Amino acid sequence: MLNKKTIRDISVSGKKVLVRCDFNVPLDKDNPNVITSDKRIKESLKTINYLIGAGAKTILCSHIGKTGQNKSLRPVAKKLSEFLEKYVPLLKDIYSDETQNIIDNLNDGDVVLLENTRMYEEEEKNDPEFSKKLASFAEIFVNDAFGTAHRAHASTEGVTHYLPSVCGFLIEKEINAFDNSINDPKRPLVAIIGGSKVSTKIAVLTNLLDKVDTMLIGGAMSFTFLKAQGYNIGKSLVEDDKLEVAKEIMNKAKEKNIEFLLPIDHIQSKDTSGIYDAILTEDQNVNDDMMGLDIGFKTVDMYVDKIQNAATVVWNGPVGMFEVEEFANGTKKIAEAMAKSNAITIIGGGDSVAAVEKFGLEENMTHVSTGGGASLELMEGKKLPGIEALDNK
Ligand code: 3PG
Repeated sequence: MLNKKTIRDISVSGKKVLVRCDFNVPLDKDNPNVITSDKRIKESLKTINYLIGAGAKTILCSHIGKTGQNKSLRPVAKKLSEFLEKYVPLLKDIYSDETQNIIDNLNDGDVVLLENTRMYEEEEKNDPEFSKKLASFAEIFVNDAFGTAHRAHASTEGVTHYLPSVCGFLIEKEINAFDNSINDPKRPLVAIIGGSKVSTKIAVLTNLLDKVDTMLIGGAMSFTFLKAQGYNIGKSLVEDDKLEVAKEIMNKAKEKNIEFLLPIDHIQSKDTSGIYDAILTEDQNVNDDMMGLDIGFKTVDMYVDKIQNAATVVWNGPVGMFEVEEFANGTKKIAEAMAKSNAITIIGGGDSVAAVEKFGLEENMTHVSTGGGASLELMEGKKLPGIEALDNK
């Protein structure tokens, strides 16, 4: 359970409150004024509405994009104005007199948004002067940027050194969802770990081997495990320098009596384009001139059965190249099985969230995380600096 103070533990009425959100939302490539997923904005509304209702003067801040890209939060300000049904001005220059003046004259219940913190290179450097500047706008700091909680930046960690600092409702919800499902789960706990590379999932696999009853592996990373077991993987993606690590993980699972399952068949094709035939393999082996791009039907049945018998299911990483229709079946079936099950279902990680959104199943899951890197680090068992820095209960 979260041992940090939350917004409920302090009085915010009439106070200036700086709120760090994660408004790093995807923008349309051709029209950067169009937000293609507003999930992160919607998920921030509970905290913002609470502050408005309590009569706080709310100063929102966030990054969007990378330092140097100089993306603007203007579309976010517009979306917030729509959702909150009140005008949310975007304050363009953190150092300007105009910004200071507007903040000095805020009324109770007002909300403003500071422009992208990454327009200033001080942000990622966690520069104390920049943190102080942000802190000078307010009397209280609320961190609700779960998706950025793994970054020790000026507006996430630095600012906590200068203000009483608590977390908002989104961070509270995210931490409790992961904590309950991984550290104190209803059993059996089944984890589905997919994605293309074992190398990016070693820490999460190792941490989860101490927690789960069953681990289901999918995605291109399964070919590193299968090759380590001696199967023919054809032209499938593989990390040859991780074969030993893959063996160690499988041995550890055996020692711990964890059910560690790899695909028993695949959908294979000549390349990733989807223009060539997508063929089912007979077993674990892939043809020499083909690559495995999705789990096969027998694997789907086996994995769905495990999901149906689980009390908690945690999913990170798609089990196939679901962006291409020919290779989307496995990921879709996993998402549907989770959506139908009575288990606690937690979706962490950018790509699995994108898959669940694509198949329209978000509402049927217990928790769909707003964090990519942050949720991965939590599943790795790491502490997140943006949360660690908040005041203890
Ligand atoms: C994310 O989208 O994962 C967060 O907003 C963090 O962004 P970053 O990876 O650019 O720091």
